[in-house]
Amino acid sequence: MASTVVKALRPSGRILKSAVSTGFDKRGSAWFEDVEMGPPDPILGVTDAFKRDKNPKRLNLGVGAYRDDDGNPWVLPCVRCAEERIIEKQLHKEYAPITGLPDFCAKSIELALGKDSYVLKDKRNATAQSLSGTGSLRVGSAFLAKFWQGNREVYVPNPTWGNHIPVFEHAGLPVRKYRYYDPVTCGLDYKGCKEDICRIPPESIIVFHACAHNPTGVDPNTIQWCELADLVKSKCLFPFFDMAYQGFATGDVDRDAQAVRIFESKGINFCLAQSYAKNMGLYGERVGALTVACDSPEEASRVVSQLKIIIRALYSSPPVHGARIVAEILTDPDLYEMFLKDVKTMAERIIGVRQKLKECLVQRGSKRKWDHITNQIGMFCYTGMKPEQVDRITKEFSVYLTKDGRISMAGVSSKNVEYLADAMHAVTK
Ligand SMILES: Cc1ncc(COP(=O)(O)O)c(C=O)c1O
Repeated sequence: MASTVVKALRPSGRILKSAVSTGFDKRGSAWFEDVEMGPPDPILGVTDAFKRDKNPKRLNLGVGAYRDDDGNPWVLPCVRCAEERIIEKQLHKEYAPITGLPDFCAKSIELALGKDSYVLKDKRNATAQSLSGTGSLRVGSAFLAKFWQGNREVYVPNPTWGNHIPVFEHAGLPVRKYRYYDPVTCGLDYKGCKEDICRIPPESIIVFHACAHNPTGVDPNTIQWCELADLVKSKCLFPFFDMAYQGFATGDVDRDAQAVRIFESKGINFCLAQSYAKNMGLYGERVGALTVACDSPEEASRVVSQLKIIIRALYSSPPVHGARIVAEILTDPDLYEMFLKDVKTMAERIIGVRQKLKECLVQRGSKRKWDHITNQIGMFCYTGMKPEQVDRITKEFSVYLTKDGRISMAGVSSKNVEYLADAMHAVTK
């Protein structure tokens, strides 16, 4: 066949190289040659660099997954027990309902809101099992993109978890930021936060990390949460809580849920994304829940019907194994007690190692104030190290972390804390 130039249907009007072809086979083989290489994920990039490093003392403090004091992943004993019981039951592998396992949904939202919740008593919750925290946020954002009548902008704290912005934008909701972190105190910029929230247009969506803010580890205190709830109510904003760490922050599941419960007690309806990745260590099982707190049971059933339509189109129905584990733990009083103990074990190890790291830095004569290491909470510590100090600690000490100076406390142990303190002191002198 003679060489032909086929004008490809491109908005840019550019001609596809592959369309200059001598035959159909060639043209058909390179439909995506104009697709640009995407940037690597910043956190996985840290792990890749860590893996290439041959230093036996190397430390990977980039990844947000719990490790025991020997640096190994930890399967919670309550999860092991629940799994054994599930296997004994010889359950089928049929599809779950579109909104997931009913027991899982009922117990999950009870874990978040507590037994005295008005929303639960009134049956005003629209709850669906979803794909861990991320999937719950994504389904929630799809729902809001379709049905939110107010300002479609979503306001997130600055900084926020790296995936919030892509998740909301992917659903078609533009993202704006409100002040949250104060680099001078390495704590909450409460004044700035309130000022910015006051300026948010009424009927906008506002995202809060329910506890253990990622990446900063900085949370408002109880009084501040109460004031923020009043502000949100007076400004007629719609809060979307991301609760990825319930129990993991303080070791107490009720205390870590206080923000959501305070808002609820003030009659504010909300969206809530729950994850069992961290508090039950079910990272790879992808198990979580989305709840929309509604005005009436009737509204809740309409919302559930729409969540079903969204979920059906996105992934049809959720996986069963992780949800069965969670349901087994949350419905069985003995397993639930075990869970409370296990989550406390993780939280206390992290709290202990924060204390130790601060002490070690003081012992080394560091002139800097490191109180924020123990004031911050949860998996991460926003150290306040500058990008050039991060570069140095990586190059000179093989300590790997994200450029923003965030370290995963889960990767710090009694065995490496002294080495980490040496390294941090050396680069922050
Ligand atoms: C603030 C926050 N939200 C949501 C998630 C979602 O995690 P997953 O999808 O694994 O539950 C994370 C995980 O790091 C997180 O830190």
